[in-house]
Amino acid sequence: MEKINAVITGVGGYVPDYILTNEEISRMVDTNDEWIMTRIGVKERRILNEEGLGTSYMARKAAKQLMQKTGSNPDDVDCIFVATTTPDYRFPSTASILCDKLGLKNAFAFDLSGACCGFLYSLQVAAGLVCSGRYKKVIVVGADKMSSMVDYSDRATCPIFGDGAAAVMVEPTTEDYGIMDAILRTDGKGLPFLHMKAGGSVCPASAYTVENRWHYIHQEGRTVFKYAVSNMSNVTAEIAAKNNLDKNNIDWIVPHQANLRIIDAVASRLEVPHEKVMINIEKYGNTSAGTLPLCLWDFEHKLKKGDNMIFTAFGAGFTWGAVYVKWGYDGSVI
Ligand code: UT7
Repeated sequence: MEKINAVITGVGGYVPDYILTNEEISRMVDTNDEWIMTRIGVKERRILNEEGLGTSYMARKAAKQLMQKTGSNPDDVDCIFVATTTPDYRFPSTASILCDKLGLKNAFAFDLSGACCGFLYSLQVAAGLVCSGRYKKVIVVGADKMSSMVDYSDRATCPIFGDGAAAVMVEPTTEDYGIMDAILRTDGKGLPFLHMKAGGSVCPASAYTVENRWHYIHQEGRTVFKYAVSNMSNVTAEIAAKNNLDKNNIDWIVPHQANLRIIDAVASRLEVPHEKVMINIEKYGNTSAGTLPLCLWDFEHKLKKGDNMIFTAFGAGFTWGAVYVKWGYDGSVI
């Protein structure tokens, strides 16, 4: 039997209309455009500010566009999962809400919690399902409404994050393209440095937790920064070496968009020039599980069949990893 590879066959995306600029943030907290641009690299971010709309709203728009672009019939979708830290509800899953909203009748669905690395993990899960030969159309969504847990009185975190969603279709091929290799890691050491204090089963929501502002992102930025730089750089170098990839044959690095200085450090470790690194942090900020597929969405028109790409991410947990993708279609003809 011929070997089955799992290949990305399309990308869809969505970002909300509302643009939160550095100027507006400077009116909320003691900061300025210069600090945010030099320390983080974000100029503006999108915010889903309409009452009553959650992550599934953005995820549905991204998945709908994906299904249109790939000509996919809802009945043919086997599986959909949503990488997210900001699900619509504690339960049921945001993915199950999508099944209804997208009219998927034959799919199973679940959310995957891997923080900013969630999309990377999901891609590998999708590849495993497709390569098993049992599933033909798997939708992977990365979506987060980070504004739902950002404290807009905390200058150390509020300039970083934004809202957005994007999705890819993963399908089988017998050609030598697709999700070729993955190195994924989790260590559990990151809890003190990046978490939300309340709202989970250890500390359920109460008047006390609300009064004490425990339902926001808590981040010790400097520590997270150090781990992000070393783990992302190391794992990217490791997957490159394992697959005989170097600055001469890597076409794209697709890095998590948490901080421009982290992205620069990862690229310079492999000596890959800036023009081969997908960067859109300046306009969306850190959309957590949304960053990698939103990069693909923005850069799709530049991609060529056979491009060698290394996706890499780092997030709460800590979670991190790198995935080697040999791109499967010419983006300019979409
Ligand atoms: O996606 C999940 C993974 N997350 C990440 O990868 C985030 C990693 N961390 C970071 O990106 C950076 O650590 C931050 C952007 C969060 C912070 O940048 P930093 O260069 O590490 O700043 P810092 O926390 O060391 O703070 C330096 C100074 C402090 O002042 P003092 O103590 O030196 O007087 C802060 O109070 O900058 C101050 N500061 C600010 N100043 C103006 C912190 N936030 C701001 C601000 N505007 N918004």
